[in-house]
Amino acid sequence: MVKELTKKINELKKEKDAIILAHFYQPPEIQAIADEVGDSYYLSEIARDCPQKTVVFCGVKFMGESAKILSPEKTVLMPVANAGCVMADMANDIQVAALKKKHPDALTVCYINSTAAVKAHCDVSVTSSSALNILGKVENKKIIFLPDRNLGEYIAEHFPEKEFILWDGCCLFHDRIKLEEIEKLKEEYPDAEVLVHPECRKEIRDMADYTGSTSGIIKYATNSNCKEFIVATEEGILYELEKQNPDKKFMIPGGSVRCADMKKTTLENLYTTLLNGENEVVVDEQIREKALKSLLNMHKLAE
Ligand code: 13P
Ligand code: SF4
Repeated sequence: MVKELTKKINELKKEKDAIILAHFYQPPEIQAIADEVGDSYYLSEIARDCPQKTVVFCGVKFMGESAKILSPEKTVLMPVANAGCVMADMANDIQVAALKKKHPDALTVCYINSTAAVKAHCDVSVTSSSALNILGKVENKKIIFLPDRNLGEYIAEHFPEKEFILWDGCCLFHDRIKLEEIEKLKEEYPDAEVLVHPECRKEIRDMADYTGSTSGIIKYATNSNCKEFIVATEEGILYELEKQNPDKKFMIPGGSVRCADMKKTTLENLYTTLLNGENEVVVDEQIREKALKSLLNMHKLAE
C-alpha cells in the first residue's frame, strides 16, 4: 500500500510540475517522500526559488501562507486544510495594531509562526535559525516581539542594550517540556548533551549544551563527538537525526513531544491533494502585499 501510494504520488508530482516540501516535524513517511525537508527558514527560501508551478507544503498553515506570500504566481497546496499552529493563533491583527499604537517608536518583529494578517502589521519576520542574526543588524532600541514569549526572551537575553516588549504566546508542546524530565534522563545518561529549541522555557534553555532551530540541532548533533543526546523539541526531528547519525542515541524528554497538527499529514491526504488540487492556500491580496514586506526584510537581513 505504502509502495503503491509512493509510486502514484511521484508520478502525479511530475505530471503536475509540483514540488513536495516537508518540515522536520512531519511524519517519517512524509519526510521520506518529500523533495526537500528543512526548517521554516530553509523551506521559505525553497518555496520562493523553486522552478515548479505547484508547491505542496507538508507543514502547518503559516508555512503554506508564507510560501504563497513570497510566490503569489505559484499554486500552494496543503495536504490538510486545517493544520494550524497553536502559537500563531495566539496573536491577531487587531491586538497587534493596538500594541503598536502604544509603542509607536518600536520596531515590530514577528516570529514566522504567525498569521498572514499579523505579518501584515510587522516590520520584519524572523525564524528561530535567523532571529539572532537579524536582531543583531537592526538599529532600533525598542522591539515588540510576538507571538512567542520564550523565543522572545531568548533573543532579549542576547541584546541587553535593547528594550523588548514581549507578547504572551507560546507553543503549548515546547512550553510543556519539564525540567524534571530532562534531569531524570541526565541522571541515567550523564554524558548526554542537551539540545533545546528556543521555544522551550528559560529553565530548559539554561540547561542546554546547544539551543537552536531544528536544522541547528541536527547540525550540532551530527558534528558532535558525543554519542547520546536529550532533544527538547518535537519528536519528528528524530527521523533526520537518526538518518544522519545511525550510531548515536536520541531521547525526547518525557518520551514524547508531539505537535498534533504537524502529524495530520498522511500519504493518503498528500495523494488526494495532488490528484485534485485540493486545499489551495489563498491570501487576501492587500494582506499579502503588506506581509510580503516583513518576509522580504527577513531574507534580506538574514543574508
Ligand atoms: P524551526 O524553524 O526551527 O524548524 O521551527 C519551526 C517550528 O514550528 C518550531 O516549533
Ligand atoms: Fe506551532 Fe508548536 Fe507545532 Fe511548531 S510545534 S508548528 S510552534 S504548535
